[in-house]
Amino acid sequence: MVDRNGWGRGRDDPIGARRRPPPAFVERANAADAERYEAFEENWPDCWERAAALLAWDRAYDTVLEDEDAPFYRWFTGGELNASYNCLDRHLEAGRKNHAAIRWGGKQGESRTYTYRELYVEVNEFAAALRDLGVGEDDVVTLYLPMIPELPVAMLACARIGAPHSVVFAGFSADALATRMNAADSEYLVTCDGYYRRGDAFNQKSKADNARLAVDQGVRTVVVDRLGKELPHVVGDDECDYDAVRDAHAGETVDPVSRDAEDMLFLMYTSGTTGQPKGVVHTTGGYLAYAAWTSHAVLDVKPEDTYWCAADIGWITGHTYIVYGPLALGTTTMMYEGTPDYPDRDRLWELLERNAVDVFYTAPTAIRAFTKWGSQYPERHDLSSLRLLGTVGEPINPRAWEWYHKHVGGGTCPVVDTWWQTETGGVVVSTLPGIDDMKPGAAGPPLPGIDARVVDAAGDEVEAGDAGYLTLQKPWPGMARTLYDGDDRFLDEYWRRFSDPEDDRWVYFSGDAARIDDDGYVTVLGRVDDVITVSGHRLSTMEIESAILDAGGVAEAAVVASTTGAGDGEIYAYVSLERDVDPADAIREAIVSRVERAIGPIARPEEVVFTPELPKTRSGKIMRRLLEDVTNGQELGDTSALRNPEIVGELRATIRGE
Ligand code: WTA
Repeated sequence: MVDRNGWGRGRDDPIGARRRPPPAFVERANAADAERYEAFEENWPDCWERAAALLAWDRAYDTVLEDEDAPFYRWFTGGELNASYNCLDRHLEAGRKNHAAIRWGGKQGESRTYTYRELYVEVNEFAAALRDLGVGEDDVVTLYLPMIPELPVAMLACARIGAPHSVVFAGFSADALATRMNAADSEYLVTCDGYYRRGDAFNQKSKADNARLAVDQGVRTVVVDRLGKELPHVVGDDECDYDAVRDAHAGETVDPVSRDAEDMLFLMYTSGTTGQPKGVVHTTGGYLAYAAWTSHAVLDVKPEDTYWCAADIGWITGHTYIVYGPLALGTTTMMYEGTPDYPDRDRLWELLERNAVDVFYTAPTAIRAFTKWGSQYPERHDLSSLRLLGTVGEPINPRAWEWYHKHVGGGTCPVVDTWWQTETGGVVVSTLPGIDDMKPGAAGPPLPGIDARVVDAAGDEVEAGDAGYLTLQKPWPGMARTLYDGDDRFLDEYWRRFSDPEDDRWVYFSGDAARIDDDGYVTVLGRVDDVITVSGHRLSTMEIESAILDAGGVAEAAVVASTTGAGDGEIYAYVSLERDVDPADAIREAIVSRVERAIGPIARPEEVVFTPELPKTRSGKIMRRLLEDVTNGQELGDTSALRNPEIVGELRATIRGE
């Protein structure tokens, strides 16, 4: 099989064979100099000036890295800048005011385009409105919006006036929103009346209203009218309508506030190993420089591109690679409100074709769904505008990689498998598509300047090819600076496990397992803590389990995510009930609705499996790994440590429907 440009894998190459970057790509790549790795190593940490140089600074920084208070590192200290200025004003000044900044595709087939000038105008008006509402520098503004352009507008308006935003995924429940608003002491909320979910109008405002009842502080709310006539747009006395507040400030401009490089740009709540979400703090200088740098070097974004990261802005991927990275580089970023299969399975490819997208970035869970639907969908569209493909969020197996490469990339686009996390701010492990060979299944070498190592339980580096804990042993500009909940939790969650403070040796632990082969390529094996990924969403098993325990009648619960077969990415809840409680449908429903209320429909268990006992070790710890094996129909791991091994066989029979 020969691809469009005669480049690629021959007919007999095995699945997962290594590939050189295609010469046509290399010629134009933003990063094509192989010396880059050594240059970063020899010149560390000053190498990071290259990232800072992608930004416009109001005041030049004095020092690249200050590490006296490690692991509370400080980057580009003394520097001052504004993120909204970097994403908007400077592109106008460069004569690109009529260039498209955002192309948005709505769920009902609508589309909207914002030029840089139009985005600038709306951001300024909304920034003026937020100020008028009382938002001051450093006040946390919560944004609870679906994938509509008002979300990036509100983010940039916050950035303009130096107010950190905290975006809460629109699919989260009222309880989840209230928890995050309380944790951040946030007194401002921007939300909307509702949005479409697979064609149906869905009320968001009532969730926001319920959340506000549970928020301790007074909250001022702005409501976007997304649905027009579909849903009554009720704006209460203490609330305001988005269009009305903008109109009241029509044509106004707001000077971008000069922020210290280390000032907080935003807060992003993410799931940790406890029920309480972690408020990850990202800064203005280091984060933005890193977002721009990795968009440039890894995603190869060029100002003239149309670039599409098909994530949700409610998660970190959307923050860094829909909003901040691409807009800092002055490119056209796409935003899509819908799901890839609504109204049909051609929708995504149609949008790709119609917008002549150059770079497409999505998650393995989406790619696996595409492979199930079949190659006829992408194949009946002209996708020849594509130059580069990316994936993020989970390990991608070589077969899905090959499918993506062949059926979406036409065999000619490099694929970057990018490993990173909310806490890293941007990609830290990936091939550079113009330099490195691709190795399907392995993310790639650590990026230049990144020191990724796999260690054993004692913190010692393991042999090449051996699995262990994935750590980062040098700081990088995009790293989280702390947790909003406190420095101590930050140390506990990421640093204490493998660091040696006596020796001033600081090691960041990612929570992932991985192996690094002889060639330096990192293969990520998945989380080793109690975090699961479902359809690209990061959730905490503890958070779901504690919601299940609230259902009443439940004695114990353990949840796992399926990773294989038809039920890929579904949550299975294994539940044992209190004595004398019947495993009736009523309790199953109570469990499901409890979880939906506490977190949202994304955390909904697809299966609730009742069992007299959960498999446990002799010390009483639930063996979640075995439940994963049962769920995925895999060979059972070692059961010798179990106190009740017979239960696993019973569960297995139940799952198989025997
Ligand atoms: C997983 C998303 C394998 C990993 C950017 C990590 C990946 C978690 C990859 C972070 C990848 C992300 N290969 N696993 N390319 N990318 N992960 O914070 O387990 O939502 O720890 O950030 O996703 O999820 P988060």
